[in-house]
Amino acid sequence: MLFFINLKAYDESTGKKAAELIRNIERKFSGNSSLIVVLNPLDSMIGTTLQKYIQTAEPLAAGPFTGHIPIGILREYNYSGVMLNHSECRISNDKIGESVAMAAKMGLKSLVCADGLEKIREIIHFKPDFIAYEPPELIGGNISVSTAKPEIIGEAVQLLKGTKSRLVVGAGIKNRIDVRMSKKLGAEGILVSSGVVKSPEPIKVITEMMEEVV
Ligand code: G3P
Repeated sequence: MLFFINLKAYDESTGKKAAELIRNIERKFSGNSSLIVVLNPLDSMIGTTLQKYIQTAEPLAAGPFTGHIPIGILREYNYSGVMLNHSECRISNDKIGESVAMAAKMGLKSLVCADGLEKIREIIHFKPDFIAYEPPELIGGNISVSTAKPEIIGEAVQLLKGTKSRLVVGAGIKNRIDVRMSKKLGAEGILVSSGVVKSPEPIKVITEMMEEVV
């Protein structure tokens, strides 16, 4: 199972605070390939031994682009993957397809977010490495996706059976029970933000959840 921590753009998780949080995570989890941090593009220069994905990027090669984040330059920043179509940063299906293909060409993993089963059906043929099911109404809240939507997770597991895409679930995940339930339902990864970033003791929370991520 994999544990993706999306740092989003909270005061607690950008700039110097992002660097500090990453250092603290590294101290405990350096070398653990199950843990992946998902960074805001502005924090691209933070050097880390942890696996890192970027929160979004575009299907562009290096070149004359201003204000864009080309997938073609992500290797230069040591990214190992790209997140696409997060509920807070949606893109068209055409762009998802192009981005997944380009990421694969560059040797990068792709994690595509979907707000429901219909979206999963639309994107499955692009063959991303991961599809993250996140019901938007639960993002940032206290009720986890595994508590509120167990049957949808079960259906998503069935949809992905026999494909190359692995199911990740996210929204409202905050503790070991949420992780355990997600795993039991068949998810192969969790995607967490506020439960870690907004916690007064992020490392304690990560440690607790990582105990279930085996
Ligand atoms: O990308 C992770 C995310 O959208 C879930 O956020 O705050 O509910 O863990 P949160």
